[in-house]
Amino acid sequence: MKALVCKQFGELDQLQIEETAAPVMSPSQVRLSMRAAGVGFMDTLMAKGLYQLKPELPYVPGAVGAGIVTEVGAEVQHVKVGDRASFLNYYGAFAQEVVTEAHTIVQIPNSMDFAQGATFRLSYTPAYLALKLRAQLQPGEVLLVTGASGGVGHAAVQLGKLMGARVIGSVGRAEKMDIVRSFGADEVINHSTEKLRDRVKELTDGRGADVILDLIGGDVFDECLRCINMLGRIIVMGFTSGRIPQIPANLVLLKNCSILGVFLGGWMTRDQAGSMKLNQDLAELAMQGALRTHISHRFAFQDAVKAMQTLLQRDTIGKVVLDINP
Ligand SMILES: NC(=O)c1ccc[n+]([C@@H]2O[C@H](COP(=O)([O-])OP(=O)(O)OC[C@H]3O[C@@H](n4cnc5c(N)ncnc54)[C@H](OP(=O)(O)O)[C@@H]3O)[C@@H](O)[C@H]2O)c1
Repeated sequence: MKALVCKQFGELDQLQIEETAAPVMSPSQVRLSMRAAGVGFMDTLMAKGLYQLKPELPYVPGAVGAGIVTEVGAEVQHVKVGDRASFLNYYGAFAQEVVTEAHTIVQIPNSMDFAQGATFRLSYTPAYLALKLRAQLQPGEVLLVTGASGGVGHAAVQLGKLMGARVIGSVGRAEKMDIVRSFGADEVINHSTEKLRDRVKELTDGRGADVILDLIGGDVFDECLRCINMLGRIIVMGFTSGRIPQIPANLVLLKNCSILGVFLGGWMTRDQAGSMKLNQDLAELAMQGALRTHISHRFAFQDAVKAMQTLLQRDTIGKVVLDINP
């Protein structure tokens, strides 16, 4: 089978598509013949050696994908050969075949094609974990999402509206403001030209946002800490700016606020039943037609490196997909 192979951490253009041996199965695993993979910011971090988890080299990048089940291990019960399924794990998706633990697999609802199935789980799943389980977002609360045009951000905007919140989206480029409104945001801020804390306070009669989902870190996080409402919750989820912020504990005290960490991969591994339930809830919302990933760019498998580079140029909206042929 063909796979994109990373032999050393570093620049993305070192990655190459190569002929590799098909992965070997164990009784707790499932084999998928891949049709589509989602490209995410973490895939780029991992290949550069900047992600918190460093796989043993060589490895195949790609955290999320979808395809057809071609083999199931003896211990596997919830999927069968022929099912359309998606998987979410740390790596392995940028390949014609994937072998993965059964708990990382879910069936794709009939309403979804492979591209939707592949992208859904690294956009809606982390956003739902953050808003529902961690922040316990309530109807009528104000939710601020930074990085609102991106893969996780646009899902968080849609989910926030479904959960009854008033949603403020924040982006770094003016041309992305209208599309974030079209995802359902009540207001949109451009944090590269406007002072985030001032605009959020203006829009909330001086109170600030009740829940903030921050995907950017750096200066944007620093601003978030200054426009969180009393008893608010800030979710630390990503650092696309490249700077991991330091938190002054005195501000947390003064604001009576909570800082919540969310790491989907770690949670999924520790709470497999909780993860299955979360995926089921999301699948039901998707089947009602309430959720649909916006895909701005699609690439052929041989252009996988270009797909990752395009994501880093910040021209994409929602998700980027690789189409993979068996
Ligand atoms: N903790 C978890 O469980 C978890 C799960 C999934 C993802 N994540 C993390 O969440 C973050 C977002 O992931 P994603 O897949 O949604 O990424 P994405 O689609 O690339 O979107 C992130 C947004 O970040 C902004 N951005 C990108 N590069 C930037 C830079 N150099 N400086 C400032 N802003 C920049 C861009 O918005 P503008 O162009 O509008 O500025 C972009 O739309 C990543 O850090 C990812 O690793 C964490």
